[in-house]
Amino acid sequence: MADPADRRRYSCLVTVLEVIRRSTDYLAQKGVDSPRLQIELLLAHVLKLPRLQLYLNFERTLGESDLATVRALVRRRGNREPLQHLTGLVSFCGFELAVGPDVLIPRPETEVLAERAWTLLETLPVAAPAVLDFGTGSGCLAIALARHCPAAHITALDISEPALVRARANAERQGVADRIEWARGDGLAAVRPGLHFDVIVANPPYIPSVEIERLAPEVRDHDPRPALDGGPDGLDVIRQLAAGAAARLNRSGHLLVEFGDGQATAVSDLFVRHGWIVEAVEADLSGRERILIARPARR
Ligand SMILES: C[S@@+](CC[C@H](N)C(=O)[O-])C[C@H]1O[C@@H](n2cnc3c(N)ncnc32)[C@H](O)[C@@H]1O
Repeated sequence: MADPADRRRYSCLVTVLEVIRRSTDYLAQKGVDSPRLQIELLLAHVLKLPRLQLYLNFERTLGESDLATVRALVRRRGNREPLQHLTGLVSFCGFELAVGPDVLIPRPETEVLAERAWTLLETLPVAAPAVLDFGTGSGCLAIALARHCPAAHITALDISEPALVRARANAERQGVADRIEWARGDGLAAVRPGLHFDVIVANPPYIPSVEIERLAPEVRDHDPRPALDGGPDGLDVIRQLAAGAAARLNRSGHLLVEFGDGQATAVSDLFVRHGWIVEAVEADLSGRERILIARPARR
């Protein structure tokens, strides 16, 4: 097949199934987890099909332009760019968010945090609760709570300006931007003075600095460092919340904070030492303790 025209014609005849098989092998060699699922999701994205429709289209041949797009994406995935950066989208609590290197890719355990927060909001004796999303990133928690609690007024805080730009765009796309107040800065001091909250939700950075180099390349090289790095023991920002969040809560206020696998005892002890009552420690979908729900002991 020396003739380039022949080669081009041949490449036009590659079927969906062949692309899946070849790319699965390639991604597996590159150390990518679940390589078959990854190529199916990329292919479905490029062909604009639900993934399961691929199974009805195994013999379909790819056009030259789709094939070139898939090849480029598979190469990038092989270089361990996260799938969500290649598709630009992630699903969270039933809606879609745009993501990129400027924000943490929302994780499934944070959907559990969102669900616990809106369940709590529904039980509070407050008609229009005030909520703070500490470290909003993509805006996933702020937007999920705005969608589920139409009466809530939400403040979304982040130290990163690009994250806030991204979060605001996501909120606009979901039609809730007008119910969210945006605050940029380092910690609770950056939130408008005088604002008090019924619920504070936080998914802060909690990975110990020395562990970051050992993370998968998708996380280590592509999630923003300020979204990951929690200082020497991972608890720098959680410590700030334990020390300062009670002063920003209303009488019936609660804090819900996500932490890392294995940190439950250290985080609970920290909050108790700072005068909080730990109401619950909740598990993620794989049964690991990941969320603390607490309220200040002295009202
Ligand atoms: C783990 S990410 C969580 C993002 C998003 N809430 C989520 O659950 O996907 C932590 C976020 O906190 C922000 N952040 C880190 N330190 C902060 C600080 N001291 N004050 C405010 N935001 C901070 C980071 O920029 C990042 O967006």
